[in-house]
Amino acid sequence: MSHIGSYDDRLKNFSWNISEKELGYKPGDVINIGWYCTDRICQMGKANKPALIWEGSTGPEKRYTYNDIRLASNTIGAYLRGLGLQAGDRVCLFMDKIPELYLGFLGILKIGEIAQPLFSAFGDESLFFRLSNAEASAVITQKKHVPKVRKILDKLPHLKHIIIVGHEGAAPLKEREVAFNLEKAGPVDAFQIHPTMAESPSVLHYTSGTTGMPKGVKHVHYSLIAQYLTGKWALDLRDDDIYWCTADPGWVTGTSYGIIAPFSLGVTQCVLDAGFQAESWYKFIEKRRVSMWYSAPTAIRSLMKAGDEIVKKHDLSSLRHLASVGEPLNSEAVVWSQKVFGKPFYDTYWQTETGCIVISNYPGMEVRPGSMGKPFPGVTGVVLDPVKNEPYPAPGKIGLVALKFDWPSRMRTYWNNEEAFQKKFRGGWYITGDRARLDNEGYFWFAGRDDDIINTAGHLVSPFEVESALLEHPAVAESAVVSKPDPINLEVVKAFVTLKPGFTAGKDLDLEIMNFIRKKLSPLAMPQEIEFVAGLPKTRSGKIMRRILHAKEWGEEIGDTSTLEND
Ligand code: WT7
Repeated sequence: MSHIGSYDDRLKNFSWNISEKELGYKPGDVINIGWYCTDRICQMGKANKPALIWEGSTGPEKRYTYNDIRLASNTIGAYLRGLGLQAGDRVCLFMDKIPELYLGFLGILKIGEIAQPLFSAFGDESLFFRLSNAEASAVITQKKHVPKVRKILDKLPHLKHIIIVGHEGAAPLKEREVAFNLEKAGPVDAFQIHPTMAESPSVLHYTSGTTGMPKGVKHVHYSLIAQYLTGKWALDLRDDDIYWCTADPGWVTGTSYGIIAPFSLGVTQCVLDAGFQAESWYKFIEKRRVSMWYSAPTAIRSLMKAGDEIVKKHDLSSLRHLASVGEPLNSEAVVWSQKVFGKPFYDTYWQTETGCIVISNYPGMEVRPGSMGKPFPGVTGVVLDPVKNEPYPAPGKIGLVALKFDWPSRMRTYWNNEEAFQKKFRGGWYITGDRARLDNEGYFWFAGRDDDIINTAGHLVSPFEVESALLEHPAVAESAVVSKPDPINLEVVKAFVTLKPGFTAGKDLDLEIMNFIRKKLSPLAMPQEIEFVAGLPKTRSGKIMRRILHAKEWGEEIGDTSTLEND
Protein backbone atom coordinates (compact mmCIF):
# COMPACT_ATOMS: atom_id res chain seq x y z
CA MET A 1 0.00 0.00 0.00
CA SER A 2 3.02 2.24 -0.36
CA HIS A 3 1.30 4.53 -2.87
CA ILE A 4 -1.34 5.54 -0.34
CA GLY A 5 0.79 5.17 2.78
CA SER A 6 0.08 3.08 5.86
CA TYR A 7 -2.75 4.13 8.15
CA ASP A 8 -0.40 4.88 11.04
CA ASP A 9 1.94 6.98 8.91
CA ARG A 10 -0.91 8.92 7.40
CA LEU A 11 -2.35 9.54 10.83
CA LYS A 12 0.92 11.03 12.07
CA ASN A 13 1.52 13.44 9.24
CA PHE A 14 -1.99 14.25 8.21
CA SER A 15 -3.24 17.55 6.86
CA TRP A 16 -6.03 18.23 4.34
CA ASN A 17 -3.36 20.31 2.69
CA ILE A 18 -2.15 17.10 1.07
CA SER A 19 -5.39 16.96 -0.88
CA GLU A 20 -5.40 20.68 -1.66
CA LYS A 21 -1.88 20.43 -3.04
CA GLU A 22 -2.62 17.41 -5.21
CA LEU A 23 -5.61 19.26 -6.62
CA GLY A 24 -3.62 22.45 -7.12
CA TYR A 25 -5.97 24.40 -4.88
CA LYS A 26 -5.02 27.19 -2.48
CA PRO A 27 -7.36 28.86 0.01
CA GLY A 28 -9.09 31.75 -1.71
CA ASP A 29 -8.96 30.12 -5.16
CA VAL A 30 -12.00 29.41 -7.29
CA ILE A 31 -13.06 25.77 -6.75
CA ASN A 32 -15.70 24.16 -8.93
CA ILE A 33 -16.40 20.43 -8.67
CA GLY A 34 -17.69 20.30 -12.26
CA TRP A 35 -14.41 21.71 -13.56
CA TYR A 36 -12.30 19.43 -11.38
CA CYS A 37 -14.18 16.36 -12.61
CA THR A 38 -13.88 17.12 -16.32
CA ASP A 39 -11.78 20.06 -17.64
CA ARG A 40 -8.92 19.48 -15.23
CA ILE A 41 -8.62 15.80 -16.13
CA CYS A 42 -8.51 16.76 -19.83
CA GLN A 43 -5.83 19.35 -19.10
CA MET A 44 -3.83 16.62 -17.40
CA GLY A 45 -3.67 14.78 -20.72
CA LYS A 46 -6.48 12.30 -20.15
CA ALA A 47 -9.05 13.79 -22.54
CA ASN A 48 -9.39 10.52 -24.43
CA LYS A 49 -9.50 8.26 -21.39
CA PRO A 50 -12.89 6.59 -20.85
CA ALA A 51 -14.70 8.33 -17.98
CA LEU A 52 -18.13 6.68 -18.03
CA ILE A 53 -19.20 3.38 -19.53
CA TRP A 54 -22.93 3.02 -19.22
CA GLU A 55 -25.14 -0.03 -19.67
CA GLY A 56 -28.92 -0.15 -19.34
CA SER A 57 -31.28 -3.09 -19.14
CA THR A 58 -32.13 -2.56 -22.80
CA GLY A 59 -30.44 -0.80 -25.69
CA PRO A 60 -26.82 -0.29 -26.60
CA GLU A 61 -24.09 0.71 -24.17
CA LYS A 62 -22.88 4.30 -24.11
CA ARG A 63 -19.28 5.36 -23.65
CA TYR A 64 -17.95 8.80 -22.75
CA THR A 65 -14.34 9.92 -22.57
CA TYR A 66 -13.25 12.71 -20.24
CA ASN A 67 -13.49 15.09 -23.17
CA ASP A 68 -17.02 13.84 -23.86
CA ILE A 69 -18.13 14.46 -20.27
CA ARG A 70 -16.47 17.87 -20.35
CA LEU A 71 -18.43 18.80 -23.47
CA ALA A 72 -21.71 17.25 -22.31
CA SER A 73 -21.63 18.99 -18.93
CA ASN A 74 -20.89 22.28 -20.71
CA THR A 75 -23.80 21.65 -23.05
CA ILE A 76 -26.24 20.98 -20.23
CA GLY A 77 -24.90 23.94 -18.25
CA ALA A 78 -25.33 26.25 -21.25
CA TYR A 79 -28.85 24.94 -21.82
CA LEU A 80 -29.85 25.65 -18.20
CA ARG A 81 -28.33 29.11 -18.39
CA GLY A 82 -30.29 29.69 -21.57
CA LEU A 83 -33.49 29.04 -19.65
CA GLY A 84 -32.54 31.90 -17.37
CA LEU A 85 -31.47 29.82 -14.39
CA GLN A 86 -28.85 31.41 -12.19
CA ALA A 87 -26.13 30.51 -9.73
CA GLY A 88 -27.62 29.42 -6.41
CA ASP A 89 -30.87 28.16 -7.97
CA ARG A 90 -31.81 24.61 -7.05
CA VAL A 91 -32.10 22.23 -9.98
CA CYS A 92 -33.52 18.82 -9.19
CA LEU A 93 -32.39 15.67 -10.98
CA PHE A 94 -35.21 13.13 -10.99
CA MET A 95 -34.02 10.32 -13.22
CA ASP A 96 -32.98 6.70 -13.36
CA LYS A 97 -29.27 6.05 -13.56
CA ILE A 98 -29.06 7.28 -17.15
CA PRO A 99 -26.02 9.21 -18.47
CA GLU A 100 -27.89 12.54 -18.32
CA LEU A 101 -28.08 12.15 -14.54
CA TYR A 102 -24.30 12.05 -14.18
CA LEU A 103 -23.66 14.67 -16.87
CA GLY A 104 -26.49 16.92 -15.68
CA PHE A 105 -25.11 16.84 -12.14
CA LEU A 106 -21.76 18.15 -13.40
CA GLY A 107 -23.44 20.71 -15.68
CA ILE A 108 -25.49 22.11 -12.79
CA LEU A 109 -22.36 22.47 -10.65
CA LYS A 110 -20.44 24.14 -13.48
CA ILE A 111 -22.90 27.03 -13.58
CA GLY A 112 -22.94 27.42 -9.80
CA GLU A 113 -26.44 26.06 -9.34
CA ILE A 114 -27.24 23.62 -6.57
CA ALA A 115 -27.89 20.03 -7.61
CA GLN A 116 -30.80 18.32 -5.83
CA PRO A 117 -30.73 14.65 -6.81
CA LEU A 118 -33.83 12.64 -5.96
CA PHE A 119 -34.36 8.88 -6.19
CA SER A 120 -36.50 8.22 -9.27
CA ALA A 121 -38.69 5.65 -7.49
CA PHE A 122 -40.07 8.38 -5.22
CA GLY A 123 -43.82 8.81 -5.42
CA ASP A 124 -45.47 12.18 -5.88
CA GLU A 125 -45.70 13.04 -2.19
CA SER A 126 -42.01 12.33 -1.47
CA LEU A 127 -41.16 14.35 -4.55
CA PHE A 128 -43.48 17.21 -3.63
CA PHE A 129 -42.12 17.73 -0.14
CA ARG A 130 -38.51 17.83 -1.30
CA LEU A 131 -39.09 20.09 -4.33
CA SER A 132 -41.16 22.46 -2.33
CA ASN A 133 -38.79 22.56 0.66
CA ALA A 134 -35.84 23.31 -1.65
CA GLU A 135 -37.90 25.77 -3.68
CA ALA A 136 -36.38 24.19 -6.75
CA SER A 137 -36.54 26.29 -9.94
CA ALA A 138 -36.23 23.40 -12.35
CA VAL A 139 -36.37 19.63 -12.51
CA ILE A 140 -34.63 17.50 -15.08
CA THR A 141 -36.52 14.27 -15.54
CA GLN A 142 -37.42 11.50 -17.97
CA LYS A 143 -40.57 11.05 -19.93
CA LYS A 144 -41.63 8.13 -17.75
CA HIS A 145 -41.47 10.20 -14.55
CA VAL A 146 -43.26 13.28 -15.89
CA PRO A 147 -46.76 12.21 -14.69
CA LYS A 148 -45.56 12.39 -11.07
CA VAL A 149 -44.33 15.96 -11.62
CA ARG A 150 -47.53 17.02 -13.43
CA LYS A 151 -49.61 15.77 -10.53
CA ILE A 152 -48.01 18.21 -8.05
CA LEU A 153 -47.23 21.11 -10.37
CA ASP A 154 -50.04 23.35 -9.15
CA LYS A 155 -48.61 23.27 -5.65
CA LEU A 156 -45.10 24.24 -6.81
CA PRO A 157 -45.05 27.93 -7.74
CA HIS A 158 -41.22 28.09 -7.72
CA LEU A 159 -40.81 25.31 -10.25
CA LYS A 160 -40.45 27.17 -13.53
CA HIS A 161 -39.03 24.51 -15.83
CA ILE A 162 -39.59 20.81 -16.31
CA ILE A 163 -36.82 19.61 -18.58
CA ILE A 164 -37.64 16.27 -20.12
CA VAL A 165 -34.99 13.99 -21.60
CA GLY A 166 -36.09 11.29 -24.02
CA HIS A 167 -39.29 13.10 -24.88
CA GLU A 168 -39.18 12.17 -28.57
CA GLY A 169 -42.45 10.86 -29.92
CA ALA A 170 -44.33 11.64 -26.72
CA ALA A 171 -47.55 13.58 -26.35
CA PRO A 172 -47.31 17.39 -26.69
CA LEU A 173 -45.52 19.31 -23.99
CA LYS A 174 -47.59 20.92 -21.28
CA GLU A 175 -47.24 23.99 -19.15
CA ARG A 176 -43.63 24.80 -18.10
CA GLU A 177 -42.27 21.73 -19.95
CA VAL A 178 -39.35 21.70 -22.39
CA ALA A 179 -37.71 18.78 -24.20
CA PHE A 180 -33.95 18.33 -24.13
CA ASN A 181 -31.91 15.92 -26.23
CA LEU A 182 -28.23 15.78 -25.33
CA GLU A 183 -27.25 13.91 -28.48
CA LYS A 184 -28.94 16.46 -30.72
CA ALA A 185 -27.77 19.55 -28.81
CA GLY A 186 -24.66 21.08 -30.39
CA PRO A 187 -21.68 20.39 -28.07
CA VAL A 188 -20.49 23.48 -26.25
CA ASP A 189 -16.69 23.71 -26.20
CA ALA A 190 -15.87 27.20 -24.98
CA PHE A 191 -17.70 27.64 -21.72
CA GLN A 192 -17.54 30.09 -18.86
CA ILE A 193 -17.57 28.07 -15.66
CA HIS A 194 -19.10 29.90 -12.71
CA PRO A 195 -16.35 30.98 -10.28
CA THR A 196 -17.68 29.14 -7.24
CA MET A 197 -15.63 29.44 -4.06
CA ALA A 198 -14.96 26.95 -1.25
CA GLU A 199 -18.17 27.79 0.60
CA SER A 200 -20.45 28.09 -2.45
CA PRO A 201 -23.29 25.57 -2.13
CA SER A 202 -23.06 22.55 -4.42
CA VAL A 203 -25.36 19.67 -3.56
CA LEU A 204 -28.57 19.31 -1.60
CA HIS A 205 -29.40 15.73 -0.57
CA TYR A 206 -32.54 14.99 1.45
CA THR A 207 -32.32 12.64 4.39
CA SER A 208 -34.92 11.32 6.82
CA GLY A 209 -35.44 13.15 10.09
CA THR A 210 -36.32 11.62 13.44
CA THR A 211 -39.28 13.71 14.41
CA GLY A 212 -40.05 15.81 11.37
CA MET A 213 -40.12 15.67 7.61
CA PRO A 214 -36.92 15.02 5.58
CA LYS A 215 -34.15 17.58 5.82
CA GLY A 216 -32.03 18.98 3.01
CA VAL A 217 -28.34 18.49 3.73
CA LYS A 218 -26.40 21.40 2.28
CA HIS A 219 -22.94 20.72 0.91
CA VAL A 220 -20.38 23.08 -0.63
CA HIS A 221 -17.76 22.90 -3.39
CA TYR A 222 -14.94 22.57 -0.85
CA SER A 223 -16.28 19.05 -0.07
CA LEU A 224 -14.19 17.94 -3.04
CA ILE A 225 -11.04 18.13 -0.88
CA ALA A 226 -12.35 15.29 1.31
CA GLN A 227 -14.15 13.29 -1.39
CA TYR A 228 -11.03 13.22 -3.56
CA LEU A 229 -8.69 12.07 -0.81
CA THR A 230 -11.03 9.51 0.76
CA GLY A 231 -11.66 8.14 -2.75
CA LYS A 232 -7.94 7.76 -3.19
CA TRP A 233 -6.97 6.47 0.25
CA ALA A 234 -10.03 4.87 1.85
CA LEU A 235 -11.40 3.33 -1.37
CA ASP A 236 -7.93 2.92 -2.87
CA LEU A 237 -9.10 4.16 -6.29
CA ARG A 238 -6.23 3.96 -8.77
CA ASP A 239 -5.55 5.41 -12.17
CA ASP A 240 -5.89 2.05 -13.97
CA ASP A 241 -9.05 0.97 -12.13
CA ILE A 242 -12.36 0.07 -13.67
CA TYR A 243 -14.61 1.22 -10.88
CA TRP A 244 -18.18 0.20 -10.17
CA CYS A 245 -20.20 2.02 -7.51
CA THR A 246 -23.58 0.32 -7.32
CA ALA A 247 -25.30 3.24 -5.56
CA ASP A 248 -27.88 5.49 -7.21
CA PRO A 249 -26.95 9.22 -7.32
CA GLY A 250 -30.35 9.88 -5.75
CA TRP A 251 -28.46 9.09 -2.53
CA VAL A 252 -25.19 10.54 -1.30
CA THR A 253 -23.00 7.50 -2.04
CA GLY A 254 -23.99 7.83 -5.69
CA THR A 255 -22.77 11.43 -5.87
CA SER A 256 -19.77 11.58 -3.48
CA TYR A 257 -18.36 8.26 -4.71
CA GLY A 258 -20.41 7.66 -7.87
CA ILE A 259 -19.48 10.98 -9.49
CA ILE A 260 -17.19 13.36 -7.57
CA ALA A 261 -14.45 11.08 -6.20
CA PRO A 262 -13.88 8.88 -9.26
CA PHE A 263 -14.05 11.68 -11.84
CA SER A 264 -11.86 14.07 -9.84
CA LEU A 265 -9.33 11.22 -9.69
CA GLY A 266 -9.62 10.64 -13.44
CA VAL A 267 -10.73 7.04 -12.96
CA THR A 268 -12.85 5.06 -15.45
CA GLN A 269 -16.17 4.03 -14.01
CA CYS A 270 -19.01 1.92 -15.28
CA VAL A 271 -22.69 2.13 -14.44
CA LEU A 272 -25.39 -0.53 -14.67
CA ASP A 273 -28.85 0.97 -14.87
CA ALA A 274 -30.81 -2.15 -13.94
CA GLY A 275 -32.23 -3.68 -10.80
CA PHE A 276 -30.42 -6.22 -8.66
CA GLN A 277 -29.92 -9.72 -9.96
CA ALA A 278 -26.97 -11.89 -8.88
CA GLU A 279 -26.40 -13.32 -12.35
CA SER A 280 -26.41 -9.95 -14.13
CA TRP A 281 -24.15 -8.38 -11.50
CA TYR A 282 -21.49 -11.08 -11.88
CA LYS A 283 -21.80 -10.87 -15.66
CA PHE A 284 -21.27 -7.12 -15.46
CA ILE A 285 -18.09 -7.50 -13.38
CA GLU A 286 -16.79 -10.11 -15.80
CA LYS A 287 -17.64 -8.19 -18.95
CA ARG A 288 -16.40 -4.81 -17.72
CA ARG A 289 -13.35 -6.23 -15.91
CA VAL A 290 -14.35 -4.32 -12.77
CA SER A 291 -11.36 -3.93 -10.42
CA MET A 292 -12.79 -1.76 -7.64
CA TRP A 293 -16.32 -2.48 -6.44
CA TYR A 294 -18.19 -0.30 -3.93
CA SER A 295 -21.49 -1.82 -2.84
CA ALA A 296 -23.82 -2.31 0.11
CA PRO A 297 -24.58 -5.02 2.69
CA THR A 298 -28.08 -5.79 1.40
CA ALA A 299 -26.68 -6.54 -2.05
CA ILE A 300 -23.88 -8.62 -0.55
CA ARG A 301 -26.36 -10.62 1.55
CA SER A 302 -28.48 -11.19 -1.57
CA LEU A 303 -25.39 -12.43 -3.41
CA MET A 304 -24.62 -14.77 -0.51
CA LYS A 305 -28.14 -16.12 -0.75
CA ALA A 306 -27.72 -16.76 -4.48
CA GLY A 307 -24.91 -19.16 -3.51
CA ASP A 308 -21.28 -19.94 -4.32
CA GLU A 309 -21.87 -21.98 -7.47
CA ILE A 310 -22.98 -18.98 -9.50
CA VAL A 311 -19.78 -17.13 -8.48
CA LYS A 312 -17.66 -19.95 -9.90
CA LYS A 313 -19.40 -19.69 -13.26
CA HIS A 314 -17.89 -16.23 -13.81
CA ASP A 315 -14.37 -14.97 -14.22
CA LEU A 316 -14.13 -12.36 -11.48
CA SER A 317 -10.34 -12.28 -11.41
CA SER A 318 -10.33 -8.57 -12.31
CA LEU A 319 -11.55 -7.66 -8.80
CA ARG A 320 -8.76 -6.06 -6.79
CA HIS A 321 -10.55 -4.24 -3.99
CA LEU A 322 -14.06 -4.37 -2.49
CA ALA A 323 -15.79 -1.94 -0.15
CA SER A 324 -19.23 -1.57 1.41
CA VAL A 325 -21.38 1.16 2.95
CA GLY A 326 -24.85 2.01 4.18
CA GLU A 327 -25.69 -0.45 6.91
CA PRO A 328 -23.88 -2.77 9.27
CA LEU A 329 -21.83 -5.28 7.32
CA ASN A 330 -22.09 -8.51 9.25
CA SER A 331 -18.92 -10.50 9.78
CA GLU A 332 -20.40 -13.48 7.88
CA ALA A 333 -20.53 -11.35 4.74
CA VAL A 334 -16.86 -10.37 5.11
CA VAL A 335 -15.80 -13.97 5.69
CA TRP A 336 -17.92 -15.14 2.76
CA SER A 337 -16.44 -12.58 0.39
CA GLN A 338 -12.93 -13.64 1.42
CA LYS A 339 -13.93 -17.22 0.58
CA VAL A 340 -15.56 -16.64 -2.81
CA PHE A 341 -13.77 -13.54 -4.15
CA GLY A 342 -10.47 -14.11 -2.36
CA LYS A 343 -10.73 -10.71 -0.67
CA PRO A 344 -12.84 -9.19 2.05
CA PHE A 345 -15.34 -6.34 1.69
CA TYR A 346 -13.87 -3.33 3.48
CA ASP A 347 -16.63 -1.71 5.52
CA THR A 348 -16.88 2.08 5.36
CA TYR A 349 -19.11 4.24 7.55
CA TRP A 350 -20.44 7.71 6.85
CA GLN A 351 -23.68 9.67 6.36
CA THR A 352 -25.35 12.13 4.02
CA GLU A 353 -24.31 14.77 6.56
CA THR A 354 -20.63 13.82 6.56
CA GLY A 355 -20.34 13.95 2.75
CA CYS A 356 -17.40 11.55 2.80
CA ILE A 357 -16.22 8.36 4.48
CA VAL A 358 -15.37 9.15 8.11
CA ILE A 359 -14.68 5.69 9.56
CA SER A 360 -13.39 2.76 7.52
CA ASN A 361 -11.23 -0.28 7.21
CA TYR A 362 -8.24 1.46 5.66
CA PRO A 363 -6.48 -0.49 2.89
CA GLY A 364 -3.45 -2.25 4.31
CA MET A 365 -4.89 -2.21 7.82
CA GLU A 366 -6.05 -5.51 9.35
CA VAL A 367 -9.76 -5.99 8.57
CA ARG A 368 -11.76 -7.03 11.61
CA PRO A 369 -14.90 -8.67 10.22
CA GLY A 370 -17.97 -6.96 11.68
CA SER A 371 -16.11 -3.74 12.56
CA MET A 372 -16.49 -0.43 10.72
CA GLY A 373 -12.76 0.27 11.13
CA LYS A 374 -11.07 3.45 12.31
CA PRO A 375 -11.54 7.17 11.66
CA PHE A 376 -10.04 8.43 8.41
CA PRO A 377 -6.84 10.39 9.05
CA GLY A 378 -7.98 13.96 9.59
CA VAL A 379 -11.26 12.89 11.16
CA THR A 380 -11.55 12.76 14.94
CA GLY A 381 -14.15 10.16 15.87
CA VAL A 382 -15.05 9.17 19.42
CA VAL A 383 -17.60 7.19 21.41
CA LEU A 384 -19.37 9.55 23.80
CA ASP A 385 -20.80 8.80 27.17
CA PRO A 386 -24.44 9.83 26.56
CA VAL A 387 -24.83 11.13 30.10
CA LYS A 388 -21.67 13.19 30.40
CA ASN A 389 -21.42 14.11 26.71
CA GLU A 390 -17.71 13.40 26.72
CA PRO A 391 -15.67 10.50 25.36
CA TYR A 392 -15.50 7.43 27.61
CA PRO A 393 -12.14 7.31 29.36
CA ALA A 394 -11.66 3.67 28.27
CA PRO A 395 -12.85 1.51 25.35
CA GLY A 396 -15.48 -1.22 25.58
CA LYS A 397 -18.70 0.61 26.39
CA ILE A 398 -21.45 1.35 23.90
CA GLY A 399 -22.05 5.08 23.45
CA LEU A 400 -22.77 7.71 20.83
CA VAL A 401 -20.67 7.95 17.69
CA ALA A 402 -19.53 11.56 17.65
CA LEU A 403 -17.16 13.53 15.42
CA LYS A 404 -15.15 16.69 15.70
CA PHE A 405 -16.92 18.87 13.15
CA ASP A 406 -13.98 20.04 11.09
CA TRP A 407 -13.42 17.97 7.94
CA PRO A 408 -13.94 19.61 4.52
CA SER A 409 -17.07 17.78 3.35
CA ARG A 410 -19.15 18.18 6.52
CA MET A 411 -22.63 19.53 5.82
CA ARG A 412 -22.92 23.27 6.30
CA THR A 413 -26.51 23.29 7.57
CA TYR A 414 -29.90 21.74 6.92
CA TRP A 415 -31.70 23.69 4.22
CA ASN A 416 -33.84 26.40 5.84
CA ASN A 417 -33.56 24.57 9.13
CA GLU A 418 -30.65 25.89 11.15
CA GLU A 419 -32.49 24.85 14.30
CA ALA A 420 -32.37 21.14 13.40
CA PHE A 421 -28.71 21.57 12.44
CA GLN A 422 -27.83 23.04 15.85
CA LYS A 423 -29.56 20.11 17.55
CA LYS A 424 -26.95 17.76 16.09
CA PHE A 425 -24.32 19.00 18.54
CA ARG A 426 -23.65 18.12 22.17
CA GLY A 427 -20.70 19.25 24.27
CA GLY A 428 -19.08 20.59 21.11
CA TRP A 429 -19.32 17.22 19.29
CA TYR A 430 -21.32 16.42 16.16
CA ILE A 431 -23.67 13.57 17.09
CA THR A 432 -24.19 11.11 14.25
CA GLY A 433 -27.30 9.44 15.68
CA ASP A 434 -25.55 6.06 15.76
CA ARG A 435 -24.28 4.00 18.67
CA ALA A 436 -21.04 2.00 18.73
CA ARG A 437 -18.27 0.73 20.97
CA LEU A 438 -14.51 0.92 20.59
CA ASP A 439 -12.18 -2.04 21.04
CA ASN A 440 -8.69 -1.83 22.53
CA GLU A 441 -7.07 -1.13 19.19
CA GLY A 442 -9.42 1.73 18.30
CA TYR A 443 -11.75 -0.13 15.90
CA PHE A 444 -15.41 0.98 15.94
CA TRP A 445 -18.13 -1.68 16.29
CA PHE A 446 -21.59 -0.51 15.22
CA ALA A 447 -24.32 -1.15 17.81
CA GLY A 448 -27.42 0.45 16.29
CA ARG A 449 -29.09 3.76 15.66
CA ASP A 450 -29.84 6.03 18.57
CA ASP A 451 -33.22 7.12 17.20
CA ASP A 452 -36.36 5.70 15.57
CA ILE A 453 -35.09 5.96 12.00
CA ILE A 454 -35.39 2.73 10.04
CA ASN A 455 -32.48 1.60 7.87
CA THR A 456 -33.98 -0.68 5.24
CA ALA A 457 -31.55 -2.05 2.67
CA GLY A 458 -29.24 0.89 3.38
CA HIS A 459 -31.94 3.52 2.95
CA LEU A 460 -33.15 5.61 5.85
CA VAL A 461 -36.89 5.85 6.34
CA SER A 462 -38.50 8.12 8.88
CA PRO A 463 -41.41 6.53 10.78
CA PHE A 464 -42.89 10.00 11.02
CA GLU A 465 -43.07 10.41 7.25
CA VAL A 466 -44.75 7.01 6.80
CA GLU A 467 -47.20 7.67 9.65
CA SER A 468 -48.13 11.04 8.13
CA ALA A 469 -48.80 9.41 4.77
CA LEU A 470 -50.81 6.59 6.38
CA LEU A 471 -53.13 9.16 7.96
CA GLU A 472 -54.11 10.32 4.50
CA HIS A 473 -55.66 6.93 3.75
CA PRO A 474 -59.43 7.11 4.40
CA ALA A 475 -59.50 3.94 6.53
CA VAL A 476 -56.63 4.83 8.87
CA ALA A 477 -57.38 6.43 12.23
CA GLU A 478 -53.95 6.17 13.87
CA SER A 479 -50.69 4.42 13.16
CA ALA A 480 -47.28 3.63 14.56
CA VAL A 481 -44.41 2.66 12.30
CA VAL A 482 -41.40 0.65 13.46
CA SER A 483 -38.79 -1.64 11.93
CA LYS A 484 -38.94 -5.41 12.00
CA PRO A 485 -36.05 -7.79 11.36
CA ASP A 486 -35.41 -9.09 7.86
CA PRO A 487 -32.70 -11.53 6.74
CA ILE A 488 -31.72 -9.62 3.58
CA ASN A 489 -32.71 -5.99 4.14
CA LEU A 490 -31.79 -6.18 7.81
CA GLU A 491 -34.83 -4.08 8.68
CA VAL A 492 -38.13 -3.51 6.89
CA VAL A 493 -41.00 -1.15 7.65
CA LYS A 494 -43.92 -2.44 9.71
CA ALA A 495 -47.05 -0.42 10.48
CA PHE A 496 -49.52 -0.85 13.33
CA VAL A 497 -52.83 0.65 12.33
CA THR A 498 -56.12 1.40 14.04
CA LEU A 499 -59.08 1.81 11.71
CA LYS A 500 -61.80 4.41 11.50
CA PRO A 501 -65.34 3.27 12.29
CA GLY A 502 -66.95 1.50 9.36
CA PHE A 503 -63.73 -0.14 8.12
CA THR A 504 -62.81 -3.74 8.83
CA ALA A 505 -59.37 -5.30 8.78
CA GLY A 506 -58.65 -7.78 6.03
CA LYS A 507 -56.18 -8.90 3.41
CA ASP A 508 -57.43 -6.54 0.73
CA LEU A 509 -57.26 -3.54 2.98
CA ASP A 510 -53.66 -4.16 4.00
CA LEU A 511 -52.58 -4.58 0.37
CA GLU A 512 -54.46 -1.45 -0.55
CA ILE A 513 -52.74 0.56 2.18
CA MET A 514 -49.33 -0.82 1.23
CA ASN A 515 -49.85 0.20 -2.36
CA PHE A 516 -51.06 3.61 -1.27
CA ILE A 517 -47.75 4.24 0.54
CA ARG A 518 -45.64 2.80 -2.28
CA LYS A 519 -47.20 5.23 -4.74
CA LYS A 520 -47.14 8.25 -2.45
CA LEU A 521 -43.70 7.74 -0.91
CA SER A 522 -41.60 4.95 -2.41
CA PRO A 523 -41.19 1.16 -2.51
CA LEU A 524 -38.66 1.48 0.33
CA ALA A 525 -41.06 3.26 2.66
CA MET A 526 -43.89 0.81 1.93
CA PRO A 527 -44.73 -1.27 5.01
CA GLN A 528 -43.97 -4.95 4.37
CA GLU A 529 -46.52 -5.80 7.02
CA ILE A 530 -49.57 -4.05 8.40
CA GLU A 531 -50.95 -5.20 11.70
CA PHE A 532 -54.44 -3.95 12.51
CA VAL A 533 -54.83 -3.31 16.23
CA ALA A 534 -57.57 -2.03 18.50
CA GLY A 535 -55.32 0.57 20.13
CA LEU A 536 -51.71 1.78 20.24
CA PRO A 537 -49.52 2.04 23.35
CA LYS A 538 -49.36 5.68 24.38
CA THR A 539 -47.82 7.77 27.12
CA ARG A 540 -50.15 9.56 29.48
CA SER A 541 -49.56 12.68 27.47
CA GLY A 542 -50.83 10.89 24.39
CA LYS A 543 -47.53 10.26 22.58
CA ILE A 544 -47.35 6.94 20.76
CA MET A 545 -44.66 4.71 22.26
CA ARG A 546 -42.97 3.17 19.23
CA ARG A 547 -40.30 1.81 21.55
CA ILE A 548 -42.69 -0.80 22.92
CA LEU A 549 -43.81 -2.00 19.51
CA HIS A 550 -40.19 -2.03 18.32
CA ALA A 551 -39.08 -4.15 21.27
CA LYS A 552 -41.82 -6.68 20.56
CA GLU A 553 -40.81 -7.02 16.92
CA TRP A 554 -37.18 -7.58 17.86
CA GLY A 555 -37.92 -9.86 20.84
CA GLU A 556 -36.24 -7.42 23.21
CA GLU A 557 -36.96 -6.34 26.76
CA ILE A 558 -39.66 -3.70 26.76
CA GLY A 559 -37.92 -1.64 29.45
CA ASP A 560 -39.42 1.18 31.46
CA THR A 561 -43.13 1.55 30.84
CA SER A 562 -43.89 3.80 33.80
CA THR A 563 -45.18 6.55 31.56
CA LEU A 564 -47.55 4.22 29.70
CA GLU A 565 -51.14 5.45 29.60
CA ASN A 566 -53.11 2.28 30.37
CA ASP A 567 -51.03 0.26 32.85
C1 WT7 B 1 -26.65 6.06 8.23
C2 WT7 B 1 -26.42 7.14 7.21
C3 WT7 B 1 -23.40 7.53 3.45
C4 WT7 B 1 -23.70 6.21 3.06
C5 WT7 B 1 -25.12 5.97 2.69
C6 WT7 B 1 -26.09 6.17 3.81
C7 WT7 B 1 -25.96 3.88 8.58
C8 WT7 B 1 -23.92 3.87 7.07
C9 WT7 B 1 -22.81 2.19 7.89
C10 WT7 B 1 -21.92 1.14 8.25
C11 WT7 B 1 -23.42 0.59 9.99
C12 WT7 B 1 -23.99 2.35 8.63
C13 WT7 B 1 -25.81 4.67 9.86
C14 WT7 B 1 -25.67 6.09 9.35
N1 WT7 B 1 -24.67 3.39 8.09
N2 WT7 B 1 -22.80 3.14 6.92
N3 WT7 B 1 -20.79 0.92 7.57
N4 WT7 B 1 -22.27 0.36 9.32
N5 WT7 B 1 -24.30 1.55 9.68
O1 WT7 B 1 -26.23 7.54 4.10
O2 WT7 B 1 -28.71 7.67 4.21
O3 WT7 B 1 -27.28 9.38 5.41
O4 WT7 B 1 -27.41 7.01 6.22
O5 WT7 B 1 -26.52 4.78 7.61
O6 WT7 B 1 -26.95 4.53 10.63
O7 WT7 B 1 -25.98 7.07 10.30
P1 WT7 B 1 -27.46 7.96 4.96
